[in-house]
Amino acid sequence: MKISVPAETEQNEPRVAATPETVKKLIGLGAEVSVQTKAGLGSRILDDAYADAGARIAKTATTTLKDADLILKVRRPAPSELSAYPKGALVVASMDPFGHEDDVKAMAEAGIVAFAMEFMPRITRAQVMDVLSSQANLAGYQAVMDAGVEFDRALPMMMTAAGTVPAARVFVMGAGVAGLQAIATARRLGAVVSATDVRPAAKEQVESLGAKFVAVEDEEFKQAETAAGYAKPMSAEYQAKQAELVAEHITKQDIVITTALIPGRPAPRLITKAMVGTMRPGSVVVDLAVERGGNVEGAEAGKVVAVGDVKIVGHLNVPGRIATSASSLYARNLYAFIETLVDKEAKALAVDWDDELVKATVLTRDGAIVHEAFAGEEKS
Ligand code: NAI
Repeated sequence: MKISVPAETEQNEPRVAATPETVKKLIGLGAEVSVQTKAGLGSRILDDAYADAGARIAKTATTTLKDADLILKVRRPAPSELSAYPKGALVVASMDPFGHEDDVKAMAEAGIVAFAMEFMPRITRAQVMDVLSSQANLAGYQAVMDAGVEFDRALPMMMTAAGTVPAARVFVMGAGVAGLQAIATARRLGAVVSATDVRPAAKEQVESLGAKFVAVEDEEFKQAETAAGYAKPMSAEYQAKQAELVAEHITKQDIVITTALIPGRPAPRLITKAMVGTMRPGSVVVDLAVERGGNVEGAEAGKVVAVGDVKIVGHLNVPGRIATSASSLYARNLYAFIETLVDKEAKALAVDWDDELVKATVLTRDGAIVHEAFAGEEKS
């Protein structure tokens, strides 16, 4: 069983899909592991560390991938990379398939078996494999760091001989995994924190972190959670009521962090330019949803823009801004899944195609797109 870890090819991707810790464990499963030279550099992992863990270091992607049975990636392989991928190899990555159907088709045509880690069901058994949570958690933390850097004042209240500096007011919109970590981080830094969400379950979670919950709690709000625990798109009436409440609240905030997402849809627009215009000079808005269409009007992907005296932060790949930690958690998520694909006695891949984790994540197999989310897509 040969496992390969090629370097990521996307420019803004410093993360890596295996660490020396997981390489050692993969070898423990009976695998031979090949890592492309410099694959870990963006996460501060040197070739020597992989070699010490037992990996072979390969000079090029082609040599890394030669005869691979299983390939570990952060991002989906681009069509231009696929010629080096052996037919029939399993590829485990964050495939980000929606809106990239041509790339998914290319993977099918290349004959690889692509597993999309983001489709892992959110059940107890698979919690340890939940890449969405591990990466969103770090993004939530990093959003507060990024806001703090752009903010010209202190976050905690400080009582000094020269007088008192007031605590900053931080408002977090969307209290899922990223939002809850942003709340916890801002609280640790001494800010006065409030938060909103459309899911009723979020209220107690927000309050248990010591933040104030701000939301229109009507009948629609009470029904706003799907069985999977995700938000539903809200009605125009609800959005208008919520916008009114938020508009009033935002004028008194120093930092707003938005994290609101609805799976498979563009991010809901929560903050208009007019709302930004009511914020105090020096305020900072961080839009963690910028890559999915943005929660904030005026946010630009990959940029920090000034709208009047307010900065809107739209960094790309926020987990990648804390790459060493993000890689270490991502690699463990992947390892936990790989362990379920291997027969430890035979020291070989033994995929149970009927396993619910496998069924939920397989995107392409036997030359076709097989995932139900793409039913109706033209098979190759
Ligand atoms: P997400 O990334 O899809 O969305 C982020 C947040 O935005 C969610 O809390 C959502 O309710 C909120 N949102 C959507 N539209 C909004 C609007 N118009 N205004 C305000 N907020 C809005 O969600 P995430 O973070 O991936 O997880 C959602 C929930 O799933 C978690 O809070 C948790 O309850 C559950 N979960 C369960 C897990 C498990 O059981 N293994 C693991 C991770 C999450």
